[in-house]
Amino acid sequence: MKNQEIIKKFAPKQHNLLEILHALQDNHPQNYLTEDALEETARFLNITKSAVYGVAGYYTMFSLKPRGRYIIRVCVSPVCEILKVNEVLAHLESELGLSAGETTPCGRFTLEVSECLGQCQEAPSMMINQKVYNNLSKQKISKILNSYRAK
Ligand code: FES
Repeated sequence: MKNQEIIKKFAPKQHNLLEILHALQDNHPQNYLTEDALEETARFLNITKSAVYGVAGYYTMFSLKPRGRYIIRVCVSPVCEILKVNEVLAHLESELGLSAGETTPCGRFTLEVSECLGQCQEAPSMMINQKVYNNLSKQKISKILNSYRAK
């Protein structure tokens, strides 16, 4: 779907900025906000490009560079840290052959670290795009990744 088609689903009100950016990012196969998308949003909302860039750059859920089709966000906040999320992260890095912050060469996965995902009672936790995974173990992670490799 073209950027304009997505943007026009919203009223041209500034309070819709975050929702528009989310929709544009979700629509892009590489999960990021292109320069065109930011410019079209600024024009639609009648605000400056720098205001839109400021918001897109401030929130960690937005990316201004291409990422994988599946964004894996691993919580590294205190509760997950106590429950050995470092081992989870190391296992993900090993399975995917990359370090946190990188994307697999095939463009399927991007691995990121995140603040608390609000799942502390079932930590350690991660998200893949919008889906949450809790009580992570090495075995569970391998199974989850295989299900995404098959998609
Ligand atoms: S600390 Fe990890 S989900 Fe809250």
